Amino acid sequence: MSTDLSAGRSRYSAVAMTFHWMIAALIITNVALAWTANALPRQDAAGLMAWHKTFGVTVLLLSLGRLAWRLSHKPPPFNPHMKAWERWLAHTVHWGFYVLMIGMPLTGWALVSASPLIKVYPIDMYGLFHWPALGPLANLPPAEMKAAHETWKEVHHLLAKILVYGLIPLHILGALKHQFLDKDNELGRMIPFLKAPN
Ligand code: HEM
Ligand code: HEM
Repeated sequence: MSTDLSAGRSRYSAVAMTFHWMIAALIITNVALAWTANALPRQDAAGLMAWHKTFGVTVLLLSLGRLAWRLSHKPPPFNPHMKAWERWLAHTVHWGFYVLMIGMPLTGWALVSASPLIKVYPIDMYGLFHWPALGPLANLPPAEMKAAHETWKEVHHLLAKILVYGLIPLHILGALKHQFLDKDNELGRMIPFLKAPN
């Protein structure tokens, strides 16, 4: 059942904005952590990658919550001046983000589960508990585990490329185009202290 709390509204709700900015900040931090770790010697990278895993699992949990919220609450309608192709592109990028907000952490979780190292360095959730390994991957025989690790690593890297070089630039450029070229206060839909669109 869909509850239309958005009727007459031109911006996202406080809940949707909170989800959006927490997840955006964690994803950008996670990309920065992975890239910085890539440039460091292995022993120095481990601490950064431990945070990468913790934040990644946090993104998974927040994204499932956000998806549930999104499916049960209609977003504010698009600006009526938007052309058909702009609506199509915005929808495609938004749903692509949902796929990657869930797919990135799941593939990361799969690649670390298919490694004997997870028994030595479990995923620590803020000192509260250890996030478990995915059983079917963690119990594979060594040769199959190695192959599964490589496959999931490649998928994780591929999704990261689509996210970083595709969706994020399209999304940010789109928002800035509407805000500054079309002057329709698009950013006010998602940033609470900016003027909302009319
Ligand atoms: C990795 C970072 C980001 C992710 C994953 C992300 C994801 C999303 C998603 C999924 C939506 C659609 C919300 C929905 O209908 O459920 C959205 C909307 C929006 N985002 Fe982002 N976002 C990110 C970064 C940013 C940044 C940096 C900006 C500012 C330039 C921004 C500005 C907006 C605006 C203005 C909207 C509303 C647009 C509209 O409804 O047409 N986002 N974002
Ligand atoms: C928000 C979710 C996530 C994002 C945006 C993300 C992004 C990235 C990026 C950009 C890289 C570097 C790729 C490259 O070198 O080309 C990476 C690597 C890696 N990620 Fe994630 N990740 C996320 C979640 C996770 C999770 C949940 C885990 C594990 C629990 C994880 C484990 C790893 C590992 C172990 C690597 C290094 C793989 C290698 O050996 O090259 N990631 N991630």
